[in-house]
Amino acid sequence: MIVPRLIERKRDGQALDPGELRELVLAYAEGQVPDYQMAALLMAVYFRGLDRTEMNALTSAMLDSGRRLDLSRIALPRIDKHSTGGVGDKVSIVLAPLIACLGVAVPMMSGRGLGHTGGTVDKLESIPGFRTALSLDEAERQIRKVGCAMLSQTNEIVPADRKLYALRDATATVEVIPLIASSIMSKKIAESLTGLVLDIKRGSGAFLPELEDELALAAAMIDLGAQHECPVVALLTAMDRPLGWACGNALEIAECVEILTGGGPADLLEVTLALGAEMLQLGAVCSTAAAARQMMSAAIASGRAMRKLEEIIVAQGGDKRVLSDPSRLPQASHRATFAAARDGIVQAVEPRAVGYGVIELGGGRRNMEDKVDPSVGYIVTAKPGDRVVRGQPLATIYARSAGDLGNGARALEQAIVIGDGSPEPLPLVSHRVTAHGVEVIA
Ligand code: URA
Repeated sequence: MIVPRLIERKRDGQALDPGELRELVLAYAEGQVPDYQMAALLMAVYFRGLDRTEMNALTSAMLDSGRRLDLSRIALPRIDKHSTGGVGDKVSIVLAPLIACLGVAVPMMSGRGLGHTGGTVDKLESIPGFRTALSLDEAERQIRKVGCAMLSQTNEIVPADRKLYALRDATATVEVIPLIASSIMSKKIAESLTGLVLDIKRGSGAFLPELEDELALAAAMIDLGAQHECPVVALLTAMDRPLGWACGNALEIAECVEILTGGGPADLLEVTLALGAEMLQLGAVCSTAAAARQMMSAAIASGRAMRKLEEIIVAQGGDKRVLSDPSRLPQASHRATFAAARDGIVQAVEPRAVGYGVIELGGGRRNMEDKVDPSVGYIVTAKPGDRVVRGQPLATIYARSAGDLGNGARALEQAIVIGDGSPEPLPLVSHRVTAHGVEVIA
């Protein structure tokens, strides 16, 4: 294999053979192809795309770069949920324990921050001691015992995705349907699921802001699932504003705790319940969304879901005391309120500007070697459509220095637009996509 030849052919718009792609991906996972060549190929794919045969070959190669979880001895349905990525999207951290306490095994493999979006793995690692890089044996044992494990890609499980994911994050090559689909589906198929629910983000803060592309991404992932006997249901949910209030790793963990104690932002709860209802129905735990919602609300109200989160944290070496005392999470040394500059109506809270603001504060990576500061970020309580008066607090900035507070405020000045019109934010959950077609919900 001569890698520059493959890059050249993709650059010039030709298709790569499945065998060539496989050899390349496996060699890359084993460290035999340098990042600079893979980055060039990713950029060529960004501009030229991959056809269906190439996407299938890429997904299989990524899957076969490591081993799969063996959960065959678990009698329960094995259902996971994955998001295409958003700002303030902490749904997985609420859903995993919530669904696992209702008779479904949840093997959940997630990623780190990607582009302007945060990552579940970075958020979990803000809990002191929490380990996401479990070995295959540890993960299998924990899922049998606790019903859930929250994992990152490792050298054993989808190592090709671990490396490609980090490389795409640092080279602006995230927003491509076949790269997103193969990244997500290789991880999910490696989990040996009996069903998968996808949260496809819609709107200006999504990797693919156009509805047409979001539906094409859903179709591609449903098709990849079908090839591996994994039924997939996808919901399209709003990412034209951040989800919930907290944006930043430790702040988002604290917000998950609020939801599991019956509080927290209504939009986050609603998206969580909508996705959870699909998971419980896919797992045949209940036959209607209404019954599923009742079960989930009862599990939150009784504290069962919170106890399951505690079990997961303990099993993965984390400090469970963060659940009763969130001040044990990493705390930023500097805080400031961001207030409305005028009277009016909030027209927009742009997720990309907020997400890049978090990175600017140190809560995300600018290159592959960067360390993330878990303490920094924003609590943005303003939502599009809110009527506000001059001086009213819209957000709090959490930073490492007074200088960073200023930078954080500048990002919010870009993100939060106040005007006089009546904005029309996207419906929280707008479409449901399955192998049978697309249903418009709102
Ligand atoms: N989530 C993933 O795991 N991969 C992507 O490419 C995007 C979101």
